[in-house]
Amino acid sequence: MNKEEAKTKIAELSNIIETHNYNYYILAQPTISDYDFDMLMNELIALEQQFPDLILPDSPTQRVGGDITKEFQTVKHRYPMLSLSNSYNLDEVKDFITRIKKSIEEEVEFVCELKFDGVSISLTYEKGLFVKAVTRGDGTQGDDVTTNIKTIRSVPLRLKGDYPDFFEMRGEIIMPHSSFNSINAEREELGLQAFANPRNAAAGTIKLQNSSEVAKRKLDNYCYFMMMDDDKMIFKTHYESLNAAKQWGFNVSNYMAICKNADEIEEFINYWDEKRKELPFDIDGIVIKVNDFSQREILGFTSKSPRWAIAYKFKAEEVYTKLLSVDFQVGRHGTITPVANLEPVQLAGTIVKRATLHNADFINQLDLHYDDIVSVEKGGEIIPKITSVDLKQRKEYSNKVCFIDKCPECGTQLVKAEGEAAWYCPNSLGCPPQIKGRIEHFISRKAMNIESLGEGKVELLFDNNLIKDYSDLYDLTYDKLFGLEKVIVVKDEYNLLQENAVRKVSFKEKTSNNIIEAIERSKSVPFARVLYALGIKYVGETTAKLIAKAMGSIDNIINASVEDLTEIEEVGEKIALSIKDFFTDERNLNIINRLRAAGLQFEQEQKVNNENQVLSGLSIVVSGVFKTMSRDEIKQLIEDLGGKNVSSISKKTSFIVAGDKMGPEKRKKAETLGIEIKSEDDFLEMIGDKEKPTKGIEVQGSFDF
Ligand code: IVH
Repeated sequence: MNKEEAKTKIAELSNIIETHNYNYYILAQPTISDYDFDMLMNELIALEQQFPDLILPDSPTQRVGGDITKEFQTVKHRYPMLSLSNSYNLDEVKDFITRIKKSIEEEVEFVCELKFDGVSISLTYEKGLFVKAVTRGDGTQGDDVTTNIKTIRSVPLRLKGDYPDFFEMRGEIIMPHSSFNSINAEREELGLQAFANPRNAAAGTIKLQNSSEVAKRKLDNYCYFMMMDDDKMIFKTHYESLNAAKQWGFNVSNYMAICKNADEIEEFINYWDEKRKELPFDIDGIVIKVNDFSQREILGFTSKSPRWAIAYKFKAEEVYTKLLSVDFQVGRHGTITPVANLEPVQLAGTIVKRATLHNADFINQLDLHYDDIVSVEKGGEIIPKITSVDLKQRKEYSNKVCFIDKCPECGTQLVKAEGEAAWYCPNSLGCPPQIKGRIEHFISRKAMNIESLGEGKVELLFDNNLIKDYSDLYDLTYDKLFGLEKVIVVKDEYNLLQENAVRKVSFKEKTSNNIIEAIERSKSVPFARVLYALGIKYVGETTAKLIAKAMGSIDNIINASVEDLTEIEEVGEKIALSIKDFFTDERNLNIINRLRAAGLQFEQEQKVNNENQVLSGLSIVVSGVFKTMSRDEIKQLIEDLGGKNVSSISKKTSFIVAGDKMGPEKRKKAETLGIEIKSEDDFLEMIGDKEKPTKGIEVQGSFDF
């Protein structure tokens, strides 16, 4: 295919893919199978790889993210982002209506909308193309988060129909319950603090530096307000403007209504106060807006908010019940989580028996006592939480809930990391729930994928003294497994399934064979996943991939200094220290040696797809910031050309490729050991690569070639 043909094909594919995106994410009516969609996407990716200069900023491939933002640019809003005045009861809403009717003589219509509980965003469109996304910030200026927002499928990158040349769409970035629940489950697995609610999770996500991570978090966007210069406004009413926005491709909620009086508004509020439990995302109220733009002009603004709109805030769904007892649970990383056992009570469609108490600080802030009457809140599928104590009902001699100081499972003295709220049991290699949790993580699908050893089976092996750590898995034989059995209770921690299922686990012929086969297969799982499977605190799937790629082998990681580790993308001091801790523990090193002997992959697979192996046999250190490529791209190039990336400088280092800002420690060491430092240009010349893309270089003026 020549370039002209490719251009046409790229445009055609982009169009089809974005139409499918629109059908799926906005209309919620998919018209293509996931497989066929992926095929179209792959075709587009392949073409763009072949003709990189044909990649357009609004290409659907840009939605998968990848760009790293070191620091978000602060941008001044063209139109300030105001907030709304709040009301908490219907009388306040009625006062608002009365005030408006006093100022406007003619009939007034109101538009009632859902108040999305997320993070407000301003999206700028120029000539139909999405050009910028800025957070609210202080209302006058916010952060440019364009790269991250591009990954949200319901944000159109190119508009359809007859849109104005320049305008802004205001809306809310939200995290649906489904994404929130899976992200929190993953964070808890990793020993990270769970997000308190979807709003916090959305706010944290849009400020992530790695846009491909944002893409994975499945955010959504709802638009509710169009802004443009007054003399350019083509619509008479807000309702009309939102309907047009919908036609142009924006995600505008269908759940809005024109109301003519207080009764209709009240009906809308009451309906959604009840129905909101069925929505797949959080709303925290209803927004009531004057519909007519000319009436809005008469009403004007206060310094903070428009006089033509008000937010009615729902009361969070809560119920009172009695605190019976507190359990202290030990997680995979030893973190102790207090969980309240409550007198069962009906709340938001489920019976609540347990609620999280987060940590010791939370219990102290509540000044919680046994037998206290507590208020419990819950929204959607989210874990219930205790929000307050009814002190009037406290029994005179009730006992204060005290946090434990010894591990409830193994009796070890608990410790607390500086600056963290959680207490944890440091006996990581001797405390049963930590051991079992680590093994369960090791066998999980994204790690070693020994799925046939799923729920209950690890416990059975552990109880029978067949596994004490995950390296023991590789000593299992058919004979050791066959015939084991146990009745287990599948726990439903927060009663979200509303029952505790009892199941019998038994190892018959087929199960035993499946397990042995899956264990054998796991020996070819790539290094990055093995690294993730080790269950090092804070090392999630993505981080493990980046570390594996940057360091090349487990030995390089074991020998790396904290400084070496922090050079890796997305690895900060906290993660580096956790890795260092893990590999300085002799017991972990023994486990690694046993896994090594069993045949697991502890080296990054070298891709030998380049005939030009000019770097074969060379150990190269890459350091600093580069002009033409990212550090990872240089490292990839080294690997492709047969070289080995090493992180620390030693006598064995062949040379260093240094960009700007090479660490002074590294430079000193190189000079002491007499290791050559090559500039980026020297390196490119050495590998004979004169045609590297000029990504990142600003070309001044125009040139004739
Ligand atoms: S209109 C001039 N409509 O609520 C005000 N805001 O408390 C324009 N919000 O900052 C905002 N849903 O982040 C509007 N349907 C909706 C909304 C909404 C959620 C948020 C928005 C705003 C905050 C005000």
